[in-house]
Amino acid sequence: MQTFLHGRDLICDLDFSREEVETVLDVAFDLKRKRALNEPHALLRDKVLAMLFFFSSTRTRGSFEAGISQLGGHAGFIESRTTQISHGDTAKEIGEILGRYYDGLAIRHVEWGKGNKYLNEAAKYSRVPVLNMQCDDYHPFQILADLMTIVEKKGRDLRRKKMVVSWAYAASYQKPMSIPQSLVLQMPRFGLDLVLAHPPEFKLKPQIMEQAQELARKYGTGFEVTDDMDAAMKDADVIYPKSWGAMNTTEDEKVGAEIIKKYESWIMDERRLALAKPDAIYMHPLPADRNIEVTDAVIDGPNSVVYDEAENRLHVQKAVMALTMS
Ligand code: CP
Repeated sequence: MQTFLHGRDLICDLDFSREEVETVLDVAFDLKRKRALNEPHALLRDKVLAMLFFFSSTRTRGSFEAGISQLGGHAGFIESRTTQISHGDTAKEIGEILGRYYDGLAIRHVEWGKGNKYLNEAAKYSRVPVLNMQCDDYHPFQILADLMTIVEKKGRDLRRKKMVVSWAYAASYQKPMSIPQSLVLQMPRFGLDLVLAHPPEFKLKPQIMEQAQELARKYGTGFEVTDDMDAAMKDADVIYPKSWGAMNTTEDEKVGAEIIKKYESWIMDERRLALAKPDAIYMHPLPADRNIEVTDAVIDGPNSVVYDEAENRLHVQKAVMALTMS
């Protein structure tokens, strides 16, 4: 068990080794148990986390804010538009200065081509851990919560379990591709056989696909890519259909929206759920476009684990904060 994570950043899913992710899961399960028993666990008394948001959030804000408070610390909620960032404070100033006031610096910046660079630049100058609350490339805390949920539902030995990561239609906005990219990087390390399904215009970044394929080879897991959502669902144990934008195909929002419109039939419904194993779990990081991306019958149905998945954001984030900020 690797336990020395003090001072470490978590920006990309692979920043923590497989063994270190195991440690995060162990601590997260312990903290979940402690919270259920109302056992005090003030591991970060008087520590303060800066939470800098360039984009809206329900779960990420709530779970980091509640999590640091439950650990005996405090959160500073900072919306970028209320700062001097638009007047000249660069990522260097944010890393240098907030890194001197706070004990951890969590950032959400999902703008295509900018977010990940911003987090890495802030981390270069920060003396405290930088935690990625989602960028254009990765959403590592969501994927840790997903992994914890899969372990809860399917057991710790996930070898030969089939997980489908599928594109799904959504009309609300062009969502970042950080979640599918993080899933294909993290899940092969834990033994899951992955099937990635998407229409041709919704490819993930080539360098991430190469890394994912290499990891699947290293860990002896399956990794298939298909443009057939129905075929992907067949006999799956874990299904994770969600929308993402066509940013690798076009950076023009209007053209991207027109491409998305072609694939309205990519909805997760009961017919598709029936193609998976009867005890398959349906996952979604939320927010979902109800009855567009997924039907109410699926998201509210017996196979859905979306609320346990959302809850686990709290426990894995507390684990990472306790391990890195103590
Ligand atoms: N899943 C997730 O990151 O939710 P929010 O966008 O509400 O934070």
